[in-house]
Amino acid sequence: MQNFFVAIIFLFTNFSHAFSLSTKDLNRIDSLIHIMTLDEKIGQMTQLCFSTITLDGSKSLDLNVANFRESVIKHNIGSFLSGSDNYDKWFEFITAIQKIAVEETRLKIPLIIGIDHVHGANYISEGTIFPHNISLACSFDQQVVAKMANICAIETAPIGLSWNFAPVLDVGKNPYWPRFYETFGEDPFLCSEMGKAYIKAYEGCKDILPVKLSACAKHFIGYSDPKYGYDRSPSEIPSQVIWEFFVPPFKAAFDAGVKTVMINSGELNGEAVHGSKFLLDTLLRQRLGFKGLVVSDIKDIERLELMHKTVENQKEGTFRSVDAGIDMYMACNSYVFIRDMRELVAEGRISMKRIDESVYRILKLKFELGLFDNPYPSKQLLSNVNQTKNQIEAREVAEESIVLLKNDGILPLSKGKKILISGLGANSKGMLNGPWSFDWLGAPEQLQPHSMNTLYESIQNKFGAKNVKYVELEGISCEKDKKQFLNAAQNSDIIVLAIGEKPYSEFMGNINDLTLDKIQLNLMDVAIKTGKPVVVILLEGRPRVFTEQADQINSILFAGYPGIMGADAIVNILSGSVNPSAKLAFTYPLSVGHVSPYYNKPSEYNIYWKNNPIRKNLFPFGHGLSYTTFEYDKLELSDTLLTEENQEITATVTVRNKGKRFGKEAVLWYVSDETGTISRPVKLLKYFEKIELKQGEEKKVKFTIKINEHLSYPDKNGCQILENGFFKIAVGTLEKRFYLNK
Ligand code: BGC
Repeated sequence: MQNFFVAIIFLFTNFSHAFSLSTKDLNRIDSLIHIMTLDEKIGQMTQLCFSTITLDGSKSLDLNVANFRESVIKHNIGSFLSGSDNYDKWFEFITAIQKIAVEETRLKIPLIIGIDHVHGANYISEGTIFPHNISLACSFDQQVVAKMANICAIETAPIGLSWNFAPVLDVGKNPYWPRFYETFGEDPFLCSEMGKAYIKAYEGCKDILPVKLSACAKHFIGYSDPKYGYDRSPSEIPSQVIWEFFVPPFKAAFDAGVKTVMINSGELNGEAVHGSKFLLDTLLRQRLGFKGLVVSDIKDIERLELMHKTVENQKEGTFRSVDAGIDMYMACNSYVFIRDMRELVAEGRISMKRIDESVYRILKLKFELGLFDNPYPSKQLLSNVNQTKNQIEAREVAEESIVLLKNDGILPLSKGKKILISGLGANSKGMLNGPWSFDWLGAPEQLQPHSMNTLYESIQNKFGAKNVKYVELEGISCEKDKKQFLNAAQNSDIIVLAIGEKPYSEFMGNINDLTLDKIQLNLMDVAIKTGKPVVVILLEGRPRVFTEQADQINSILFAGYPGIMGADAIVNILSGSVNPSAKLAFTYPLSVGHVSPYYNKPSEYNIYWKNNPIRKNLFPFGHGLSYTTFEYDKLELSDTLLTEENQEITATVTVRNKGKRFGKEAVLWYVSDETGTISRPVKLLKYFEKIELKQGEEKKVKFTIKINEHLSYPDKNGCQILENGFFKIAVGTLEKRFYLNK
């Protein structure tokens, strides 16, 4: 078999809007840098949390003017982050601080303000909360992500929050990792497509012009597969795997023109990423060609000393990090970075040239976002926010994202049945909005929006209050709970259980066991034993294991954290007013000790266990049911031999809606490389498209296979390898082989 390397691949051509500044603005940046003092430059490189300038040190926006003046006038701080409040408070607060920044500081440089609007405008009391990324990915529809990003931009822009720390582009390979739900799932192509859709819709939002916003691709790189599952703990990932599975979403984001990148707080192969010149300079800047701004994650220079213990003190950490390539330090609540930077410059260890590179990128971003022309919130944009319309769209997005995992025919629920609803998420708004909603961990129940429905309320609205009974139980932990539940079950026809995980963020969600907790398993067991049909709705951030129960439950929905309209969306699916169309963006594990993504190659199994197949997962990646059935037919290839570099094969398949109602089907195309010098995954997703089909309708769906894009793979140095031989294309239940002989 002939091997050859495709020339180094990563040519980054699509930075058009990153370079769209006028010569006048570029000259203004140069002049500013020319007259800035060292302290002014270091101040621009420092980002503080709003909690350092609020009256009570919380995220509520009551300004401590004296503290703020000290931070911008004495310390020259150029950026802030965080905060949570209503529109009026945000408006007043940002107006006040920008006014001081542009009127009272020597150089009148506006602030750039960062926020984690990771699933809608989740830090504005009136904001529309969408499902988290893991659910958006289950829609297998880039338009769904774009819709969320667009509304998030429309709701964020009016109050001058120019910089959004989203999207997360870490690949969700490890469900123990407590940030799993922030990812677009386990597949690098899916993450890339969804990330691109987000960035284009957010940074390119036309509805907010002349205001412009920046996204932030985070967290570069290798954060999401920590060996032992804990947040911010070491990952050990071979470099070939980094190139094939972790780099593509970031590369796609750079191609889409993302303006900023945030760094992984953890360690990769023994290197604390914040101090790694190899990862931040050689890989990110030189190999991947990223030209935008690199921001640290929160307090991560301190962590080089305190957590990773790769430096003896913070000053050394500052040196490592800035030398490696950090442009802005998210110091949060400390000025130590400023002191250390001054000393490092005085000692000649960090040059003015190095500082100027970062300051240039920061000022350039501020110019690109139009902050120098207008740093203030906009009343006009605020008046354009249509909360009612946005919430309808949030419901539609949730409907596209909820996966019907199992259904023995009990769903859709028929009218007039008596429903018993119970479980952790049955009457909770927090379990729908999830974490990063008004608060980092999710707001307490009493602070959730009054207007939104819980599942219990939505079910009552749909099926009639007299048909619905609610038993308030998080699970069954004693005889009394059991009795209460069984009593209520007696007069019911169907039991609906909202099972899952209370909201958690980052390290607060670390666990040692993926199994659902005992009292929720008990609740399912007791419900199953009644002999009545049981429907389980999973409200969770990662796939918690409940295999024994899942096998006996009639119908299961994965709803993740579906957001402010999540209850209505779930109920529309339960009732059948909406036909579910989402598919799993991750593999739902069967057991806690065996968690492997769909493309994993169980080599021995392939050869020896053909007649003794093992069950590999509870539900595979790409699994999702509908209330109608789709048939795949006539998979055809325009050619079965590829011999020239520019040659393409067009694959077509006919998809037919065989059922009795309208439905949407995500058509997933996989390619397998049958033989590879480096052992190849069993199959890899290369293209997907969501189509709509009326009852009885059929459509031809097309995928064009391109040699370099779809058939090559990276080696451990990131050089693409293209190998002659057989490949397989698979869609639905069909597959076909073709041969590459270049
Ligand atoms: C998270 C980031 C987030 C930052 C600012 C950190 O703890 O890791 O994802 O953007 O906080 O809130």
